[in-house]
Order: sequence, then C-alpha cells, then structure tokens
Amino acid sequence: MGNNKQRVAVIGAGPSGLAQLRAFQSAASKGVDIPDIVCFEKQDNWGGLWNYNWRTGLDEYGEPVHNSMYRYLWSNGPKEGLEFADYSFEEHFGKQIASYPPRSVLFDYIQGRVEKADVRKWIKFRTPVRHVEFDASSKQFQVTTEDLVKGESKTEAFDHVVCASGHFSTPNVPTFEGFDNFNGRILHAHDFRDAVEFKDKRLLIIGTSYSAEDIGSQCWKYGCKSVTVSHRTAAIGYDWPDNWKEVPLLTKVDGNTAHYKDGTSEEIDAIILCTGYVHHFPFMADDLKLKTANRLATANLYKGVTWADNPQLHYLGMQDQWYTFNMFDAQAWFVRDVILGEISTPDKKAMLADVEDRVAREDALEDDYSCIRYQGDYVKELIELTDYPSFNVDGANEAFFQWKKHKKENIMTFRDNAYKSAITGSMAPVHHTKWVDALDDSFDSYMKN
Ligand SMILES: Cc1cc2nc3c(=O)[nH]c(=O)nc-3n(C[C@H](O)[C@H](O)[C@H](O)COP(=O)(O)OP(=O)(O)OC[C@H]3O[C@@H](n4cnc5c(N)ncnc54)[C@H](O)[C@@H]3O)c2cc1C
Ligand SMILES: NC(=O)c1ccc[n+]([C@@H]2O[C@H](COP(=O)([O-])OP(=O)(O)OC[C@H]3O[C@@H](n4cnc5c(N)ncnc54)[C@H](OP(=O)(O)O)[C@@H]3O)[C@@H](O)[C@H]2O)c1
Repeated sequence: MGNNKQRVAVIGAGPSGLAQLRAFQSAASKGVDIPDIVCFEKQDNWGGLWNYNWRTGLDEYGEPVHNSMYRYLWSNGPKEGLEFADYSFEEHFGKQIASYPPRSVLFDYIQGRVEKADVRKWIKFRTPVRHVEFDASSKQFQVTTEDLVKGESKTEAFDHVVCASGHFSTPNVPTFEGFDNFNGRILHAHDFRDAVEFKDKRLLIIGTSYSAEDIGSQCWKYGCKSVTVSHRTAAIGYDWPDNWKEVPLLTKVDGNTAHYKDGTSEEIDAIILCTGYVHHFPFMADDLKLKTANRLATANLYKGVTWADNPQLHYLGMQDQWYTFNMFDAQAWFVRDVILGEISTPDKKAMLADVEDRVAREDALEDDYSCIRYQGDYVKELIELTDYPSFNVDGANEAFFQWKKHKKENIMTFRDNAYKSAITGSMAPVHHTKWVDALDDSFDSYMKN
C-alpha cells in the first residue's frame, strides 16, 4: 500500500529546525494528522551552533565544520529574551537560573524540550542535503542527501522543504595588504575556539559587532596583553579597560606592524577577523536560493519565512537576530500551519508587497531600541496567527532594553545583572560569581546557584 501522506523535509536540526519538529509534534499531540517529517542534519547531534565542537576547517568526513561557537561563550543577550513560551527555564531546570548562561547550559535547555517532545526519531544525522530542486510537473521537490557514514547518496521526493541550515557558519573573510607575510596567527571568528591561546598576546580585531566585542572581551578576561579593535564604519564606543583601544580601519601589516587609516601604527601578535558571515546555500537550485543581506527584513520571504516564488518552500531563522529561539518558534508554528493548509498564502505579488513593506519599515528604523521593537512586533504578528502560546513580548523587549543599558554602563559587568522572565514572571537570581572572575564556566559550576 502506498503512503499518500504529504512529506516534509527539514534541513538542519539546530534551534530553528528543532522548532519546526516541535511545532509538528505539538499539533500531533492535539490530534492533528501531520505529514511525514524527515529532518536531515549533517552533524552527529542536534543543537546547531550550540552543539559545540573543537574542530575547525573540515571535519572527519571532509565537510566544512558548521560550528562558530567558542569554548567560553556565554549568552550575549539575556536568556529572558529567548525563552521558549512552551518550555520555560524553570520547567527545564526545576528552578530559575541566572540571566546569561554559558553555551553548555543553553544547549541543555534546547535539548530538554525536544527530548520531552520525542522528535529525535525524525532526524537523520550525518546526512547533509546536497541538492534541492523543484519539479514543476509533479509539484514536488527532489532532495538529494548523502549518508556520510555509509557513503551513500539518495534522492527522494518531498512536498514541502523547510530550510533551517543557519547563516552564521560561512565566514565573510576580507584580506589586507601584508597578510601573506604576517608573523603571527590570522583567523576568522568562525575558527576561534579557546581564548587561552591568546594569553599575553597583543591582539588586533577587525570588525565592531558582537563577535568583535565578545571575542575581545574573552581574550581580555583570559589574559591577553592588549586588544585593539579596528573599525570600517564607526567605533563601538564602550568605556573599555585600559589595555583596550579602538582605531580606524587597518590599511596594511608589515611584518608584525599594523598600520591604520589615521596614520598610526603598532606591533601586534595575532589578528582575528570578526567580519561576519554570509548566507550560503550551495545545495539549493539557483531558483530556490535565498540571496539576502544579514538584516531584519530578509529578501523574498513572505512573513519572513515563505519563499515568495513557491510557498512550498520556507526558510527559518534567516534574519539578523535580536530575538532567537522564540522567534524561530513563532516562524515554525506559522510554517507548520501553512503546510497543514490552516493558513493560506496570497499570490506572489501580494507576498512580494509584504516583503517590500517589511524592508521599508526596517529602513526607517533609527536606533537599536526601535530594531528590538520591530523584531518583537514581528514575533507578535506571527504568534497571533497560530496556537503558539502567547507571551509577554513587551516584557522580553524590556529585558533587551535593560541589557543595552547595562552594556553601556559597563561592558565587562553587564552579564552580572538579572532580569524578569517574560514567560513565568519570576526574577532570575544574580549569578554566584561575577562573569570576569568565572574562569570555570562548566555546566556544573554555573548551576551551583
Ligand atoms: C558565535 C555565535 C554566538 C551566538 N550566541 C548567541 C546567543 O548567545 N544567544 C542567542 O540567542 N543566539 C546566539 N547566536 C545566534 C544563533 O544564530 C542562534 O542562537 C541559533 O543557533 C540559530 O539557529 P539555527 O537553527 O537557525 O542555525 P544553526 O544553529 O546554525 O543550525 C543549523 C543546522 O543546520 C545544519 N546544516 C547546515 N547545512 C546543512 C545541510 N546542507 N544539510 C543538513 N544539515 C545542515 C547544521 O549542521 C546545523 O546543525 C550566536 C551565533 C554565533 C555565530
Ligand atoms: N556571546 C555571544 O552570544 C555571541 C558572540 C559572538 C557572536 N554572536 C552572534 O553571532 C552573530 C554574528 O555576529 P558577528 O559580529 O560575527 O557578525 P555581524 O554582526 O554581521 O558583524 C560583522 C562586522 O564585520 C564588519 N565587517 C564586515 N566586512 C568588513 C570588512 N571588509 N572590513 C572591516 N570590517 C568589516 C562589519 O562592519 P560594518 O559595520 O562596517 O559593516 C561588522 O562590524 C550575531 O547574531 C551575534 O549575536 C554571539
């Protein structure tokens, strides 16, 4: 007997792909007849970037290593901004925890929800998607995957594809005059793992966004000699420690001497390019490939998720991110309901008009606060359309506003603050050790609160 069920392929089992699995499982638990779901994940475990790995470059199968996270990474925003509305931190840990967990703690939290939902059985690990194309006659996608362990490829038909492969893995890597002859290490943030490597070193960082400030802060915390941050557009402008300075863009290096646009120069030992990432989907046929800048309003995606040229294809989590886990949930629940036929999508012209409207509204935003509100409104817009548990998005916005204020007050102590949960309403405890002193950031140490 044939199986007439619709088939859905989910690409990636990171927070976005897992949100999609949980969304379908949630519907199934309420008695909805859901399609067959197959999630393809190229790594050997779930969690996406949160599945930390020491490896850099190519892995044991010759695959580009997905991970961009580093050993001592702590959440850069308050956990109160990312909490799942259907699975609070208190439910997972049995108590409230402090507001800026290290990555091992967040990995545990992400994993807890999907273990409870029992969706691991839908995932094929070590199986990268190699090619996706749409067959107009059958109105199905042909999805080619490779089982890395068996070394076997196969092509299967799917009615819907949800691409959740992330966009902070393929580095944007500029070069500068003299790099070929530099007498020290040059790496991109994607390949940074352990701050201790830079102990006693004079560090030059290029870029001014989250990777720059956080990798610089880590290296400072673990004992580098000095940090210089070089900017293309504008300095970051925090009140940095004494051995930290900001300079205009690097023009060249000559031996170990770095020269900057303002004519100044200095001796440095290592260079970390914190120059961001590119959206990269080599496995998508050209007519399905998302081409977008890293911004809040992505190109060509209706409601930020549905491919305007073909609403059987969706992309999750492709925006620049203030909101993360609960935004991926809002998107996944919406996509689920489009796939289930509970939500209908308008014609292509109307979908593109929706995209244009989002772009224009983003272009008019004036500061980070309005960007946070804009993305919070987007989360509200999506969750109003589905049965994702409604939560206090304004409360989550407020945690972000407080976070920004605390960073401005002191960039090396902002993680010592605590905020109120937008899901349960309870206050987080202040962590037992100040971030700057917490050199042991293991799961067990963090949970000693
Ligand atoms: C250094 C760094 C630190 C961050 N810190 C925070 C933070 O503190 N707080 C926060 O909320 N967010 C943080 N983020 C943002 C991060 O983007 C999200 O938290 C989240 O990981 C995004 O989830 P995702 O599922 O969309 O993508 P990812 O986590 O990147 O997961 C994508 C998954 O797809 C898989 N995949 C990719 N290509 C294929 C393929 N062809 N076939 C099969 N599988 C494939 C990958 O192996 C991976 O498992 C950080 C990002 C970076 C880079
Ligand atoms: N602890 C944490 O949780 C943590 C730590 C690190 C990163 N992250 C996350 O990782 C994601 C990516 O952050 P990111 O900082 O890597 O990337 P990003 O936010 O995209 O920033 C890229 C930076 O690179 C600069 N840049 C790009 N090309 C350049 C060039 N040719 N020359 C000089 N500068 C150049 C940009 O400068 P312009 O302004 O001039 O364009 C910008 O400052 C974010 O979501 C962030 O939250 C989280």
